[in-house]
Amino acid sequence: MPFSNRRILLGITGSIAAYKSAILLRLLVKGGAEVQVIQTEAARDFIGPLTLATLSGKPVLSEMHLDDQWANHVALGHWADALLIAPASANTLGKMAHGLVDNLLTAVYLSAKCPTLVAPAMDADMWDHPATQDNLSILSRHGVVVLPVGEGPLASGLEGPGRLAEPEHIVEELQAFFQRDTSLAKKKILITAGPTHEAIDPVRFIGNHSSGKMGIRLAEEALRNGYEVVLVLGPSSEPTPVSNRLNLVRVTSALEMQEAVRQHLHATDIFILAAAVADFRPDVPAAQKIKKEGRQSLALNLVANPDLAAWIGNNKKPHQFLCGFALETENLVENARAKMDKKNMDLIVINSPNDAQSAFGYDTNKIAILDKSGKLISFERQSKNDAARAILQAIAERL
Ligand code: CTP
Repeated sequence: MPFSNRRILLGITGSIAAYKSAILLRLLVKGGAEVQVIQTEAARDFIGPLTLATLSGKPVLSEMHLDDQWANHVALGHWADALLIAPASANTLGKMAHGLVDNLLTAVYLSAKCPTLVAPAMDADMWDHPATQDNLSILSRHGVVVLPVGEGPLASGLEGPGRLAEPEHIVEELQAFFQRDTSLAKKKILITAGPTHEAIDPVRFIGNHSSGKMGIRLAEEALRNGYEVVLVLGPSSEPTPVSNRLNLVRVTSALEMQEAVRQHLHATDIFILAAAVADFRPDVPAAQKIKKEGRQSLALNLVANPDLAAWIGNNKKPHQFLCGFALETENLVENARAKMDKKNMDLIVINSPNDAQSAFGYDTNKIAILDKSGKLISFERQSKNDAARAILQAIAERL
């Protein structure tokens, strides 16, 4: 049975979709899980505790002012293997994102040591609101697994995204999550991300337009999958994930990035090099700000930076896996293949600034993944979140 010996806290919040929680609960119990239901006050208007208590075989918890339950919120979070909140309303997602505690469910979430998965459900307009989308990205950064919503007719009469995923689908996602968690736990992954800045003088640098978003999404996805993550991040203004399994190393230049990678070279199982490392740097940065007076031109002498991908590729042990990126504007697959061979990579992710809303700076990316055997998987344009999921899945399949 897929969930035998699994202890699941099922959080149910105030959404019309709460009626589907009964089916979800039934599927979890049938799969062998021990389930403790926590309902918010608002959820009781949509589904009665008697139904849920009967299906789970345990009294439903919801009041936090009862002394025994309030004291137990910490114990509950420690007891469970996963906290699954389905449906998760816009209101509860907002409170979780901002650390607000006003009921038992939010208290359990904030003190839980187990992974949390949420299956959002709301009206399409609420789903589309920037506040909701910001809350979801905050939760993602905090390591919460946000399950996809369905699209279609909504209880409000609107059509669009925001439907609770079907219970069968939620169960599949939870099962896949547990599988990943056990197979990948304790594997160490190092991700380079962002641009590098190469100093010309104390106030100027040579850089590029990389935002770091793709690498940060990869780090978030890796954390959700249970990996220990080292994120070596060049200058980027993007918010970074927060987790006790994340070691965030901020660097500025290619040489600093190399030093950070060197420190983790032997302990790493998987390298994903998403950084746009400057190929060249000024040989000797000026000690003082370069003045323009009296100059008609300025020549900089550049020297080559170390190629981190090639360096790791040449030094990696057989158990270590190297995934690189290729940003190409022409002959995409041929150039990527040559790059993969030259740098001894196991996998290469191809993207192109020629594609609309892809690569540098965008939240979406159109990628293709090429492996050593020549197998190529091409994707349509998708969120960098989904691209990160596809990349990590491709790596996990080849470990
Ligand atoms: N890379 C690296 N260190 C460098 C340059 C690149 O680790 N000094 C990595 C990138 O993070 C990426 C891969 O190598 O994973 C490909 O980088 P790219 O710049 O596209 O390749 P180059 O070999 O530099 O080729 P070109 O710029 O000529 O396309």
